[in-house]
Amino acid sequence: MQILDGKLVSAAVKAQLADKVTELKALGEKVPHLAAILVGNNPASETYVASKVKSCAEIGFHSTLLRFDAKISEKHLLDNITLLNENADIDGILVQLPLPKHINEELVINTIDPSKDVDGFHPMNVGKMVAGLPTYIPATPYGIMLMLEHYNIPTKGKHAVVIGRSHIVGTPMSILLSRNANPGNCTVTLTHSQTANLKEICLQADIIVAAIGRPNFVTADMVKEGAVVIDVGINRIEDASKKSGFRLVGDVDYNAVAPKTSFITPVPGGVGPMTIAALLKNTYHASLGQKVNMN
Ligand SMILES: NC(=O)c1ccc[n+]([C@@H]2O[C@H](COP(=O)([O-])OP(=O)(O)OC[C@H]3O[C@@H](n4cnc5c(N)ncnc54)[C@H](OP(=O)(O)O)[C@@H]3O)[C@@H](O)[C@H]2O)c1
Repeated sequence: MQILDGKLVSAAVKAQLADKVTELKALGEKVPHLAAILVGNNPASETYVASKVKSCAEIGFHSTLLRFDAKISEKHLLDNITLLNENADIDGILVQLPLPKHINEELVINTIDPSKDVDGFHPMNVGKMVAGLPTYIPATPYGIMLMLEHYNIPTKGKHAVVIGRSHIVGTPMSILLSRNANPGNCTVTLTHSQTANLKEICLQADIIVAAIGRPNFVTADMVKEGAVVIDVGINRIEDASKKSGFRLVGDVDYNAVAPKTSFITPVPGGVGPMTIAALLKNTYHASLGQKVNMN
């Protein structure tokens, strides 16, 4: 069993981007600038946004964090996104999800200029991804593809089972893995809460991507010997031994599953850092007016 080290791969991606920033500066060019919007004070969202802003600083990107009270009106939020759309210095915009219930997330995403939508959630960018056109690939699936590529994990002809069909992880992951590309060329089964015989389907998988949001959901009896397991889940569970009172676990019962796998991502330190690396790559491409071509 080999651990897929997201911290290591993410550090390599960040180092490449830091070199690009040095080149841009030497040429007197503009440095990539990411704007992040955080509404309310959801602790997990606070952590994610803080890591994104910190990562920008580490590699020399500019970042702007706009924080709003959870009671912000939808109109005020949309007006602020419009200002960022119009600000030529801002290359990428991300709105940390989830948003408070009174705000229509779809409307918010649709308001972001598709050319600055570095999370790749705007329908125009989703459509381009489905059509195999250059675009911004949603950061988590893009980060997983970068990880598979980094470790040269064979994907051609493999059966990949994706558990979870969210717009931000499971569905784009299934599309990317099924593409005629490397990584890609998998035969993909996309599963969800209504899937019958999930265990039997998982037992046929050469690659499992778990994006459910339930601690330890994937158990050892669901995993074939030698499978590759990518654990997207980030779940907080109570742990009195920790200063914070909680610890993070994935969607995979890591200790029991890991010995059966050929490759597995840990939580934390697997997909999470890759998501940030992918977001930074998208922001770099946005600053150059380029999109990512996964073909
Ligand atoms: N590492 C990262 O950077 C990163 C990024 C994003 C998300 N995450 C984490 O990844 C997890 C999933 O996130 P998400 O946004 O994709 O979650 P989500 O929107 O809540 O989607 C969860 C998916 O799991 C499916 N599901 C629920 N119960 C199931 C069951 N019993 N059997 C099979 N499928 C089941 C749901 O099916 P239905 O569609 O039928 O309801 C849904 O498609 C969360 O822990 C989240 O925190 C991590």
